[in-house]
Amino acid sequence: MKQHKQAAAKPRVVTTKTVLTMKQSGEKIAMLTAYDFLIAKYLDQVGIDIILVGDSLGNVVQGYETTLPVTVDDMIYHAKAVKRAVKNALIVVDMPFMSFQTSIDDAVRNAGRIMKEVGVGAVKLEGGAYIAEIVRHLVKVGIPVMGHLGLTPQAINKFGTYEVRAQSKSEADELLADAKVLADAGVFAIVLEKIPSALAKKVTNAISVPTIGIGAGPDCDGQVLVVYDMLGLTEEFKPRFVRRYSELAENLRGAFGQYIKDVKGHEFPKKKESY
Ligand code: KIV
Repeated sequence: MKQHKQAAAKPRVVTTKTVLTMKQSGEKIAMLTAYDFLIAKYLDQVGIDIILVGDSLGNVVQGYETTLPVTVDDMIYHAKAVKRAVKNALIVVDMPFMSFQTSIDDAVRNAGRIMKEVGVGAVKLEGGAYIAEIVRHLVKVGIPVMGHLGLTPQAINKFGTYEVRAQSKSEADELLADAKVLADAGVFAIVLEKIPSALAKKVTNAISVPTIGIGAGPDCDGQVLVVYDMLGLTEEFKPRFVRRYSELAENLRGAFGQYIKDVKGHEFPKKKESY
């Protein structure tokens, strides 16, 4: 197994304000997803800045093809487990498909449930200028919002593929305009997913709130990955933007296989493992 140096412990409570000052001071923002207590605990222990309870849990925890079936109740269930583990990181929870797109009322009710029932710091919404009114309203009632542009998995049926987005000039111009509108509406950060690096750099320089990239190159103010991808658990998923920091699928198979062998071969448990 690869050895990694543990990041220096940073006992700093991260808020949406902290994230803004990190952009201003040039400190990169490190964000990863988590969906359960133990992963969240280890992320927090090593000083992750932001933990995203992403609706990617629909793919990696629930085994759905897309994120569309994920419900607000699912998000609250997983966010509560994460929340119990976290002392310092800012926790952001995804608003799942159709929990906010239908109306401002629905958005406030569902985001309000997440804030009240879990007690996290912010929610994340996928979408461009067309959700600006919703964002403005959420921010006005005290719910911090992270935006999400580029590849927005909740819109998979509209786009049909998970290919790199905003490669044409018109789509790139639209994305830049969306980022400005969302920043004006009050988002405290924007995820940029799977877009050309040059465009991500342009957006990062054009807005005062941080950009957090996933497959958007090195010039974003921060980076995010799905934790199971960077741990090597989703082993068939190999886009170039995922750096594997571990090969856990291999390790798990090895451990499970050895256990089966030990049980079947009367090697487990030994006397010292019994009462
Ligand atoms: O749901 C998720 O995990 C996300 C990240 C990929 C940014 O939105």
